[in-house]
Amino acid sequence: MKLQTSQGQALRTSRPAVRGLPALSRRPVRVSAIAAPEKQSTPASLNGTSNWQPTSWRSKPVVQQPEYLDKQEVVKACEEIARMPPLIFAGECRTLQSRLAKASTGDAFVLFGGDCAEAFSQFSANRIRDLYRLLLQMSIVLAFGGGVPIVKLGRIAGQFAKPRSASTETIGGVTLPAYRGDIINGPEFTEEARRCDPWRLVRAYNQSAATLNLLRGFSYGGYAGLSRVSQWELEFMKNTPEGHAYMDIAKRVDEAIQFMIACGMDTNMPFMRETEFYTCHECLLLDYEEALTRLDSTTDKWYGCSAHFLWCGERTRQLDHAHVEFLRGVNNPIGVKVSDKMDPNDIVSLIASVNPSNTPGRLSIIVRMGAKALRAKLPALIEAVQRSGQVVTWVCDPMHGNTETVSGFKTRRYENIRSEIEAFFDVHEKMGTVPGGVHLEMTGDNVTECIGGGASISEDDLNSRYHTHCDPRLNAEQSLEIAFYVAQRLRQRRENLAAKTA
Ligand code: PEP
Ligand code: CO
Repeated sequence: MKLQTSQGQALRTSRPAVRGLPALSRRPVRVSAIAAPEKQSTPASLNGTSNWQPTSWRSKPVVQQPEYLDKQEVVKACEEIARMPPLIFAGECRTLQSRLAKASTGDAFVLFGGDCAEAFSQFSANRIRDLYRLLLQMSIVLAFGGGVPIVKLGRIAGQFAKPRSASTETIGGVTLPAYRGDIINGPEFTEEARRCDPWRLVRAYNQSAATLNLLRGFSYGGYAGLSRVSQWELEFMKNTPEGHAYMDIAKRVDEAIQFMIACGMDTNMPFMRETEFYTCHECLLLDYEEALTRLDSTTDKWYGCSAHFLWCGERTRQLDHAHVEFLRGVNNPIGVKVSDKMDPNDIVSLIASVNPSNTPGRLSIIVRMGAKALRAKLPALIEAVQRSGQVVTWVCDPMHGNTETVSGFKTRRYENIRSEIEAFFDVHEKMGTVPGGVHLEMTGDNVTECIGGGASISEDDLNSRYHTHCDPRLNAEQSLEIAFYVAQRLRQRRENLAAKTA
């Protein structure tokens, strides 16, 4: 795959002076999966957004952005990022979109998983490997149950910025700016750490690039080969019920491969040696996203090149605001988080705004309500979307509607997480619609951040290995347990459908 970066025509010389930021002098960078001749025209963008530019969001109201003291430094840091290579390629986004389209019809299933927020201090090859192989293990379990391909999307290589419900935090009478993720400021409760530092943008880009390099190595260098399924087990999982259940499946995969080899299958086929793995994060920090927005010279369309998939958070999805404006113009597959506050008419308007061409796979609706609210509210949303003829991929985030504080720790209960997934599958079953995926905050580490599950992590265990700087994550054992539950639901769904068509 050749990469061409060159200076395209200057599409703007200045940007609106919104939020007091001086104009960025950079010119748009063209990115191509194949070396196409440089065009000198203004790009025609998708979705009737012909006058859309990566800077268009600047003329809209914007929330959840950091207050930088030195705005000139932000411009310099963004100019540096704008000169850097894209982290992903447009062609990969198009392939992912086609996979997500399959998930909207039940012919694939999506697994989103990773940290609530990546941290500079927790950056290590081993941690990346452990999350990666846990996601591989889970996808084997899910594929076994669902009998469909599993689309793997890591909340990684860019999941740094966090929306906050309050912009300040007060401890012992001292009030400081809230921690907004390592791409913006530090988690320590000091004035120095909480100052928003523009050069963290560049550090986050560099960490993302190094992370992606390793992920690509794992995906295409043999590590993810199907013949290695039984070697992906995490050491500390060996004596757990989930570990045993996984090894049972791994054994069956090995037997099936041996059988297929005996039948003459070529083990050098790409599907035997490689796997597709995609990255995603919340599209929150728009200075950063703008700096990584590039024009694909194959299609003459804009792509957000910070990750394959970008989603709009629950707090930033206002129809006339900056985040929706930015996301409607990039051609990546995108998501929108939706809580029980979403109104059926509003969801239809929002979908029409970001996917007016109704392209399958373009939009995933990531529902995060808590089980009870989901049973009450999701049917009306599904009904409104169906009535309007809009195609979306429905995904369940069972994490963000289930956060509570116990003994001073922000935590989640395994049973509530599982109940929300159960409710999600039940509702889709009743409505005759498709549960397309799950979105989890999880880690390959042996942490104690969520209560319950087979390992029976108790309230008292929370302080033993509580490492997250942000939301509590499922640990490896709890994650695999969830995968087995989802696999069971997928199998049930498959059997019900088969019975109906028989
Ligand atoms: C998140 O996914 O980390 C998040 C903040 O989600 P939401 O926007 O749904 O609250
Ligand atoms: Co979170």
